Amino acid sequence: MKKIVINGRRPLNGEVEIGGMKNGALPIIFASLLVTSGKTVIENLPAVKDIDISLEIIESLGAKVERSDRHTAVIDATDLKVSEPPSNLVRKMRASYYLLGAELGRFGEAIVQYPGGCDFGGRPIDRHVKGFEALGATVTETFSDSGKCVRAETENGVVGANVFFDDVSVGATINVMLAATTASGLTVIENAAREPHVVDLANFLNTCGAKVFGAGTPTIKITGVDKSTLHGCSYTVVPDMIEAGTYMVAAAATGGNVLIKNVIPKHLEATSMKLAEMGVSIVENDDSVEVSVPDELVATNMKTLPYPGIPTDMQPQFCVLMCMAKGTSKLVEGVFDNRFQYVDQLRNMGASIEVNGKIATINGGSPLYGATVNASDLRAGAAMVIAGLCANGRTEIENIVYINRGYEDIVDKLSALGADISLEEIADN
Ligand code: UD1
Repeated sequence: MKKIVINGRRPLNGEVEIGGMKNGALPIIFASLLVTSGKTVIENLPAVKDIDISLEIIESLGAKVERSDRHTAVIDATDLKVSEPPSNLVRKMRASYYLLGAELGRFGEAIVQYPGGCDFGGRPIDRHVKGFEALGATVTETFSDSGKCVRAETENGVVGANVFFDDVSVGATINVMLAATTASGLTVIENAAREPHVVDLANFLNTCGAKVFGAGTPTIKITGVDKSTLHGCSYTVVPDMIEAGTYMVAAAATGGNVLIKNVIPKHLEATSMKLAEMGVSIVENDDSVEVSVPDELVATNMKTLPYPGIPTDMQPQFCVLMCMAKGTSKLVEGVFDNRFQYVDQLRNMGASIEVNGKIATINGGSPLYGATVNASDLRAGAAMVIAGLCANGRTEIENIVYINRGYEDIVDKLSALGADISLEEIADN
C-alpha cells in the first residue's frame, strides 16, 4: 500500500492539463447500456479507479468493453442481460446506482445492491425511488446472497410521467433521465439538477438517438424513443470542473501561478468568483484559466449549493484555502449533512477550525505544519494534498485509494508544477 509524501511550502508554477469529468463519464458509461445496436466510443475518460470499476460492472452484465487507450472505451452492449452485478464492485462507488435507471430503460426491470461511495452522513435514494415509481415501476428492497438490493420492476416497460423533486438531486435527475429515455410517452422532470454533467449526459443520449430537451435548466423534457432506435456513437466527455477547481485552489493556496488547461471556464464561474473574492487573480481564456495571487489572501464566507452554486465537491479544498487566508471565514455546507469529517485532520496540522453542524468557522492566517493524515473521502483527500503543499515540513497522506478514485496522475501533475511530492510504500509493522 502506498502513501503520498509532501514536503510543503513550494508555490505551484506552470501548466496543468485537466482530464474528462469523472461524474460525467460515469453516467455516460451506464447510459451506453441503453444502446441496442452498434458500438459506443467514449473518449476523454479520466484514468481513475471509479471508471475502471464502472467498466468492470457493465462487463459483468454482458457488455463488451475494449480500452483502446487509457482515456477511451469502446462499449458494445448488444448482448446485455439483467442480472445482479458483483456486489464487491457495486459497493465501491456511489455511481453504481445508475445501473437501476439504465436497466429499467433497457429491460423494464433492474436489480442492484445498495451503492457505496464517500460517507457524508446518510445518502438515501428515496428521490430516485420516487422518480422510478412515477414512471410506473414497483420498487422494493430485497435481500440476496450479496446483501441488501433494490429491485425495480414494470409490467411492460417504463411509462412517461411528470416527476417533481422537492430538492435537487444530481443522481436522481440522472437516473430518471436514463429510465425515461425509452419510456412510452413524455417525461417532464421538474426541479432537475443543472450540473454540467447532466447536460453532458443529455448530449450523449441525444447523439445516440434519444430526445432529451432542457438539460441545464430546472425542467427537462424527455420524449421516449423505441429502444431499438438507440444506436452507438462517438462521444467526448467534458472536462472535469472539480479537478480543475482543485488545481485552482491549490495554486491559490500555495501562492503560485498556474495555467489550468482544457477547461470550460463557464463551468468554473462559481469557483472563480469565490477565489476572486479571496484576492486571487483569475484570467479566463477560451479553454484555460490562469490563477495567480497578487496580494495576501483574504477571508470570506461561502455556502455550497447545487450548480450553479459553489459545488459541495469543492468544499474541503476551499476550507484549506480559508486556513491560509488571514481572518475569519465561515463555510456552510448546503448539500450534505456530514461533510466536515476531515476537519480533525486539518486541526492536527495546526488549523483553527470550529464546526457547528453544517457550519465551519475558520480562523485563518496561521501556518500549517506537516503531519500524518488520512484521506477520509475523495475530496477530503484532495484537501489533505493541498494542506500538505502549504504546510511547513513533511506531510504523509494515507488511505490514498480515495484520491485515486477521482484524480488522474495527481502526484505527477503536481510534481510537474514544482511540488515536492512522491508516492512511498507504507512499511509493514
Ligand atoms: C453526486 C456526486 C457527488 C456530489 C453530489 C452533489 C456522483 C457519483 N456523485 O452525488 O460527487 O457531491 O452529486 O453535487 O456524481 N438525497 C436524498 N435522497 C435522494 C438523493 C439525494 O435525500 O434520493 C440528498 C443527499 O443526501 C444530499 C443531497 O440530496 O444531501 C444531494 O445529493 P445528490 O445531488 O443526489 O448527490 P449524489 O448524486 O449522491
